[in-house]
Amino acid sequence: MSIKANWSYPTAIRFGAGRIAEIGEACAAAGIKRPLLVTDKGLASLPITAKTLDLMEAAGLGRAMFSAVDPNPNEKNLEAGIKVFKDGNHDGVIAFGGGSGLDLGKMVAFMADQKGSVWDYEDIGDWWTRANADAIYPNVAVPTTAGTGSEVGRASVLTNSETHVKKIIFHPKVLPSVVICDPELTVGMPKPITAGTGMDAFAHCLEAFCSPHYHPMSQGIALEGLRLVKEYLPRAYADGSDLEARAHMMSAAAMGATAFQKGLGAIHALSHPLGAVYNTHHGTTNAVVMPPVLRFNRPAIEDRLTQASAYLGISGGFDGFFDYVLKLREDLAIPDKMSALGVGTDRIDELAAMAIDDPSCGGNPVELTVKNLTELFKQSI
Ligand SMILES: [Fe+2]
Repeated sequence: MSIKANWSYPTAIRFGAGRIAEIGEACAAAGIKRPLLVTDKGLASLPITAKTLDLMEAAGLGRAMFSAVDPNPNEKNLEAGIKVFKDGNHDGVIAFGGGSGLDLGKMVAFMADQKGSVWDYEDIGDWWTRANADAIYPNVAVPTTAGTGSEVGRASVLTNSETHVKKIIFHPKVLPSVVICDPELTVGMPKPITAGTGMDAFAHCLEAFCSPHYHPMSQGIALEGLRLVKEYLPRAYADGSDLEARAHMMSAAAMGATAFQKGLGAIHALSHPLGAVYNTHHGTTNAVVMPPVLRFNRPAIEDRLTQASAYLGISGGFDGFFDYVLKLREDLAIPDKMSALGVGTDRIDELAAMAIDDPSCGGNPVELTVKNLTELFKQSI
């Protein structure tokens, strides 16, 4: 496995197998001397986490960890994390994990010294300017899955524990100063998580590619991201220790999140409320709702997806692409409908009301309404 690179777009990325060994240098580059590693409960006891703590200690950075983070992190997790951060006199965060650890870690570094409530900094207009930028601590991000791409993002998703609504919290300085993309950290991911997180990366690339906004750089990144997922997700799923496939999936994840500056769409607008209400896995949910959304958007995306199909080596234009998605889901053992993940039809009105307020709606190529979202939920469930 010879892929190794240093990138500074969209931020500094140390990419390559074994590069978690550079955690000390990464913290030094970010100006962090007393880091708090933030991760989720599931990862806390895994060998990759122990190894990272050992590396931190060997680099003279201590081995402080906060892991009381739920699968869908909320403001209570954040409060608890900030307390540990302040009590430990930390000066930066190592955000370590899948979406949960990365997102909450970034928020601890962002919010530790802010005066306002975290909800004041929701990604609406210029609300981020309400924050005191000088009081934001640096963070180093270390992804352990290949899907969310949160390691290259300037925002985190936080669930309101009372309303169960997921909010996007944004500030440019939330972007990790340094990222370590070490595919060896993803080798132990169980198959369903490899599949679900991989489909999240695919959904990011797909929705960014189909969004009508003008962003040609994102367009190119999204297209190549789709190709990497097409080529390497089945391989990573079939053999979790296939390091080359794991590496390319790690790239695809970072590319998806880079590309979706261009916009997301109905897949995420449906997936966010479903995840918030039923705690379903984000990427898996995206994969389940993908076919109804593709069908619904068809009039607006047919030409575009025909172009993409040509690049991806899929024949048959839009129909060929649609069939490819169905086959990919099947190969990854992803269910066809949300009912298989425990979702009923009794709360569709509530889900549609949440979906129409989701910022992802803005990037959908066909205008979304409560009525058509309701129909999409029916088809998906
Ligand atoms: Fe996503």
